[in-house]
Amino acid sequence: MALELNKHAPLPLRFADLKLDIAPKDEDSKRHFTEAWNDLLVQLRSAVDKIKAEGSDMIPQVEFADLQNLKPEEIENIKRRGTVLVRNVVDNAQAAAWKFELENFVKVNPVEGVPEDDKQFFQHYWTRPQVQARAHPNVLNLITWLNNLYHVKVPTVDRQFAVNEVQKGVELATPLTYADRFRIRHPGVQWNTHPPHIDGGGIERWEEPTFRSCYKDILNGNWKNHDSYNLASVFRTFQGWLALSETAPTQGTLKVFPDVLLSSAYLILRPFFRLKEDRTSDDLLDQANWELDVSTPDFPGIFERDGVFFGPRLTPASHPHLRLEESMTAVPSVKPGDMVFWHCDVVHSVEQEHTGKEDSAVMYIPAVPLTPQNLSYVARQKESFLRGIPPPDFPKGAGEGSFIGVGKETDVIGEIGRKAMGLAF
Ligand SMILES: [Fe+2]
Repeated sequence: MALELNKHAPLPLRFADLKLDIAPKDEDSKRHFTEAWNDLLVQLRSAVDKIKAEGSDMIPQVEFADLQNLKPEEIENIKRRGTVLVRNVVDNAQAAAWKFELENFVKVNPVEGVPEDDKQFFQHYWTRPQVQARAHPNVLNLITWLNNLYHVKVPTVDRQFAVNEVQKGVELATPLTYADRFRIRHPGVQWNTHPPHIDGGGIERWEEPTFRSCYKDILNGNWKNHDSYNLASVFRTFQGWLALSETAPTQGTLKVFPDVLLSSAYLILRPFFRLKEDRTSDDLLDQANWELDVSTPDFPGIFERDGVFFGPRLTPASHPHLRLEESMTAVPSVKPGDMVFWHCDVVHSVEQEHTGKEDSAVMYIPAVPLTPQNLSYVARQKESFLRGIPPPDFPKGAGEGSFIGVGKETDVIGEIGRKAMGLAF
């Protein structure tokens, strides 16, 4: 294994100051911090061995109809894995009909998508199937269930102000709609655009004070206390998709690192440790070969391009202890109408190969709870919907308002669905 820690340009020096600022200062804290890292490496080793042995069985699967009857340990397992496959959320025939309609939509309209010469990932948000699926009562029910895995932490003295700010206007029981895109991926086509990564926030995880405070237990050397389900700075609680086709592992599906606590702790601590020059063990992953070091501005997985920082993008070289080549696990086979959700901190990727015979098609539908920030986004998103243009978070474009088969306000049925779209209060 080659350990090229940062083949990109070095990050600006201010990141060395940032690291120094976060890192423990006195000897006792440094020892505690290093012990926490060493312990994490030991835990990761056995966790990855288990993931490798169990494969897709590591990903929890539940029937939509059983959601309210899960045992506490099943819920804990879903939370720890960070990913869940929920079966039969939408009627199989309905999901297949939506796929048929989407196929027609991309045939009869001058759609935008990539790759340019054989479009499969579409920059469209307001097709009728998407508008209907987001308002489907079971989809919204499931999203509410997922949002409720989170909680707003009880105020503590040091963070009282920040927590109170967040608590105002948060309703986990009220789902909001976040309009995203869809894909209809063809078999046999290589897909290299989604290597292992985490969505929503790169260097901000360390640099932005509120975001960093979400990881304070990890940064204090107490990663076992880290709570991945505190709402403090979360926009989407889970990213997700609705399957529109039958798709098995190796057929271009989603892969995840199925332990959100360990991967979060490792991601956050990784910049503070380096491989020693003098190695005491032949095994590069052995904790004896690693040491605390805050002398460089490197944040492995964070890169700069034209003054913009992106990532975290994780590779076997930058994050060796995750053993991504062995641990990235495909979600089990899905059928039309099943949904897969993964926690916003989960390391995920899309399989490069699609060895199947059929298209692998999904609509992206994340879980978003009502918070003041999310509500103001939904208000702006609603305007985009009514005008048929891309939602505020996405690249501007002429839109699809005049396309055949675009969704209308009348396709958003039901009180909860209308409220989620900002169409009713
Ligand atoms: Fe992603």
